[in-house]
Amino acid sequence: MRPLPFLAALVISSTAAATNTTYEYIVVGSGPGGGPLAANLARAGHSVLLLEAGDDQGANPNISQILNFNKAGNDPKTRWDFFVKHSDEPERERKFEHYVYRQRDGSFYVGTTPPDSAAELGIYYPRAGTLGGCAMHNAGVSANAADRDWDYIAEITGDASWKAEEMRKHLVSLENAAYAPNDRTHGHAGYLTLTQARVSMGNGSDGAAMVRVAAETVGQGNVAPEVLVKRDMNANDAARDMRTGVFGQIRHADAEGRRVGTNTFIRATLDDPRRFPLTVSLNSLVTKVLFEQTNGAAPKAIGVEYMEGQSLYRADPRSSSNTTGTLKRVTASREVIVAGGVFNTPQILMLSGVGPAAELQRWEIPMVVDLPGVGTRMADNYETSLIGLAQRDFVNVSGTHAVMLKSAAAAAANRTRDLYLFCGSFSFEGYWPGFPAEYGKSQYECAVVHMNPHSQAGTVTLRSADPRDMPKINFRFYEDGEDEDLTAILDGVKWARSTLAQAPKDIAPFKELHPCKSPRTNCTDAEQKEWIKLNTYSHHATSSCQIGGDGDRLAVLDSKFRVRGVKNLRVVDASAFPKVPGAFPVLPTFMLSQKALADILADVH
Ligand SMILES: Cc1cc2nc3c(=O)[nH]c(=O)nc-3n(C[C@H](O)[C@H](O)[C@H](O)COP(=O)(O)OP(=O)(O)OC[C@H]3O[C@@H](n4cnc5c(N)ncnc54)[C@H](O)[C@@H]3O)c2cc1C
Ligand SMILES: *[C@@H]1O[C@H](CO)[C@@H](O)[C@H](O)[C@H]1NC(C)=O
Ligand SMILES: *[C@@H]1O[C@H](CO)[C@@H](O)[C@H](O)[C@H]1NC(C)=O
Ligand SMILES: *[C@@H]1O[C@H](CO)[C@@H](O)[C@H](O)[C@H]1NC(C)=O
Ligand SMILES: *[C@@H]1O[C@H](CO)[C@@H](O)[C@H](O)[C@H]1NC(C)=O
Ligand SMILES: *[C@@H]1O[C@H](CO)[C@@H](O)[C@H](O)[C@H]1NC(C)=O
Ligand SMILES: *[C@@H]1O[C@H](CO)[C@@H](O)[C@H](O)[C@H]1NC(C)=O
Ligand SMILES: *[C@@H]1O[C@H](CO)[C@@H](O)[C@H](O)[C@H]1NC(C)=O
Repeated sequence: MRPLPFLAALVISSTAAATNTTYEYIVVGSGPGGGPLAANLARAGHSVLLLEAGDDQGANPNISQILNFNKAGNDPKTRWDFFVKHSDEPERERKFEHYVYRQRDGSFYVGTTPPDSAAELGIYYPRAGTLGGCAMHNAGVSANAADRDWDYIAEITGDASWKAEEMRKHLVSLENAAYAPNDRTHGHAGYLTLTQARVSMGNGSDGAAMVRVAAETVGQGNVAPEVLVKRDMNANDAARDMRTGVFGQIRHADAEGRRVGTNTFIRATLDDPRRFPLTVSLNSLVTKVLFEQTNGAAPKAIGVEYMEGQSLYRADPRSSSNTTGTLKRVTASREVIVAGGVFNTPQILMLSGVGPAAELQRWEIPMVVDLPGVGTRMADNYETSLIGLAQRDFVNVSGTHAVMLKSAAAAAANRTRDLYLFCGSFSFEGYWPGFPAEYGKSQYECAVVHMNPHSQAGTVTLRSADPRDMPKINFRFYEDGEDEDLTAILDGVKWARSTLAQAPKDIAPFKELHPCKSPRTNCTDAEQKEWIKLNTYSHHATSSCQIGGDGDRLAVLDSKFRVRGVKNLRVVDASAFPKVPGAFPVLPTFMLSQKALADILADVH
């Protein structure tokens, strides 16, 4: 069969022959922030153009099946490769075990002893540039933020519509909690189908045995494992955030394991016989927001400029420096909504002249408004993992279960749970080209996600004024609260170690691979913290264009997602969170998107 001819610009639309150049709303980016918002605005009767830099892989099972997420993450058809820094100390950076270099032949080298000729790239950070955004290659774990994370936004802005009980209503309206069909406190009619990952639980199986030892170490030894792996971490329960122990892992996938929420919802909106006025333009890299400036008045967003063509962004492994797109312009009669994700949203704003004055001057970008907070205060969950090899191969241990814990400090201060672990016979040690490493069927891991990092010192700055270039990204992990956060993470690691030690006798003792390589020679707390600090990985970045109160000089957005200092421009994606929302950002981002819909529609009337 001959390959299909290359389509530089594929426009899919529910309205035949729609070639409007003006839409009421233009949404940039189709991830959990922008995708559902564009679909919902069209469902509310508004004409919407959704511009997405990637193409549509929704029919490709490597991408659309959640269990294929390792394949999806490595697939050049969706992958956007970013290389970031964790600190300003190059010698420390190079000790990161999966540090990445480019070799002379163009291939990647991953490790700490590169060949002399290799060029340093940095720490790999995955993103998906495709219809549906990172929801098309993530693990789909869907956990609500703690109530206090939502209440915090209400506190700093004085806007009570952010309070946890209000945000809960948005969750209920968008979810289809298929894992809890009889729980009337959950929603069952929304677009976001939520199921729980199946954990093999045969009586007497290794899966059940490992859940049982986890349960015993958290005081739940009297509850059946099959009950524990269905426990609802998102329950509507006033004491929810104080509860610890074993839970089911909820994910945004249907019963057949197909990813839902972004690509599927956009497709369903386009295919709906009611012909909603949604137009989706793929292979469309937005280069800037266009403004109208009249004397005296605040600059007003009136549209965007974009390049049409495949793989134009240089993070796309298929891009080549000679690919150039066709430059186009479209106008928005109501609003432009930027939802390019935590790295691209600040880049788009800066390219448009909205950002720190010095940064704009440096690249000779005409300033529209000096917003010093754009690309600052970015943060991320810290992640690490304990991996061990059992005495024998595991049988019947598919799936993972979650364990939520309080670090010793959180417990002593009667604070909410601050550690999220997920355990199973798998290996996940963060991301690098070609991840993950496989250690065979005796492998067992508890991954540790730390929920409330103190440090918010991450930055996104421009590498050049070329919209096809990736920005420079530095997380500056552990700038604040280093010891407190590392101690909490180590508490999680120690819990995992103590649990594995209690596995049935033909499974334990485990040969630990890390943090403490067996046989242990160097495993003081200080040594473990140093290892964790050097090798912390992450993929939940938020807060690079954050919401803040009126008195906050670095606030980029007001509480209604409006970019400060300009009109008709909002940001609706994970960059808007003032703090990392819990252990996993994707469900909070869907909730934030639903809230933005309500705020935008309220402005229409
Ligand atoms: C490998 C991986 C695993 C993850 N696992 C989980 C998990 O299990 N649970 C969880 O909660 N979170 C997880 N996350 C994080 C979660 O997926 C993200 O936080 C979430 O997708 C953020 O949504 P967003 O809308 O802000 O941005 P994104 O999902 O990044 O979407 C942004 C979209 O904008 C497009 N875009 C960018 N720039 C432009 C431009 N200039 N023009 C046009 N389009 C543009 C991109 O192509 C992309 O489609 C994971 C992330 C990764 C990378
Ligand atoms: C095109 O524009 C017209 C007039 O503004 C509008 O009624 C129609 O819904 C638009 N079509 C699409 C697909 O956006
Ligand atoms: C799915 O991934 C495999 C390799 O992991 C590849 O051989 C196959 O072509 C991919 N399928 C599609 C439709 O991209
Ligand atoms: C599991 O097996 C034990 C005996 O081996 C039995 O007592 C118990 O009821 C079984 N549990 C289930 C859920 O089948
Ligand atoms: C594993 O599961 C299969 C089917 O689910 C079952 O037939 C088999 O007996 C199980 N083996 C063990 C050791 O539990
Ligand atoms: C683009 O450059 C690559 C090499 O980098 C070359 O193989 C290809 O033919 C070029 N394509 C065009 C259209 O010039
Ligand atoms: C811990 O906090 C909860 C509510 O957040 C409260 O109900 C409980 O009494 C507190 N416990 C102690 C020991 O202070
Ligand atoms: C201990 O030393 C081994 C071998 O040098 C190393 O692989 C491991 O990462 C070290 N562990 C810690 C916690 O420093």
